[in-house]
Amino acid sequence: MNTTSSEPCVIVALDFPTADEALALASRVSPTLCRLKVGKELFTSAGPALIEALVSQGFDVFLDLKYHDIPTTVAKACKAAAQLGVWMINVHASGGPRMLDAARNAIDSSQHRPLLIGVTVLTSMAQEDLEAIGVIGTPEQAVTRLALLAKRSGLDGVVCSPLEVTRLRAELGKDFLLVTPGIRPAGTDAGDQKRIMTPAMAMAAGSSYLVIGRPITQAPDPIVALQAVAAELA
Ligand code: C5P
Repeated sequence: MNTTSSEPCVIVALDFPTADEALALASRVSPTLCRLKVGKELFTSAGPALIEALVSQGFDVFLDLKYHDIPTTVAKACKAAAQLGVWMINVHASGGPRMLDAARNAIDSSQHRPLLIGVTVLTSMAQEDLEAIGVIGTPEQAVTRLALLAKRSGLDGVVCSPLEVTRLRAELGKDFLLVTPGIRPAGTDAGDQKRIMTPAMAMAAGSSYLVIGRPITQAPDPIVALQAVAAELA
């Protein structure tokens, strides 16, 4: 499942505390130039009504809630998310094969079928954090192991660092989606992101979709920032 040049590969992260702020940003960008990501903070404060509003404005919405629970609960959550009309959802691959299979089956039996993406190792986890929870091997080995698990359960792709894309693309094949945060257009502030790539570098490495937050949401003119990214990629 590769992206085509006619569809936007930029996913703008709406990391805002309230629906008003998220809707204000949405009104300054366009569904022809980007998709939108709603995460835990915004969804917890604004709820399904915001998702429905964004979908009705024509945006593809990535509902980034990273489900991780017993298989039945995750399956039901995936089904409820699908019913909101979102374009992409995600689950923790570390929930294991039965949880991933349950998520896949729930989506497949839904009328609307969002893309199902796995979270491998959070980029905030260092080697010692993995050791503390009993994960064997390096973070890179854990990422590969979990990405393969996601692929075996029929997930559409994984979230990963742009620095992992070349290796994962080689191991997982051309049709597996690689969704990458940690993107910084040249000349923009890295903020708290440590391992970054520019949009063009990440796409050249094999990313399918780029998650970009602050370089667009905090720009004086978000649409100008978004157009600059589109021009860089064109
Ligand atoms: O503002 P910035 O471009 O850094 O935003 C990146 C977005 O991607 C945020 O919503 C962040 O939570 C998310 N993300 C990330 N790193 C991950 C997974 C998600 O930065 N490994």
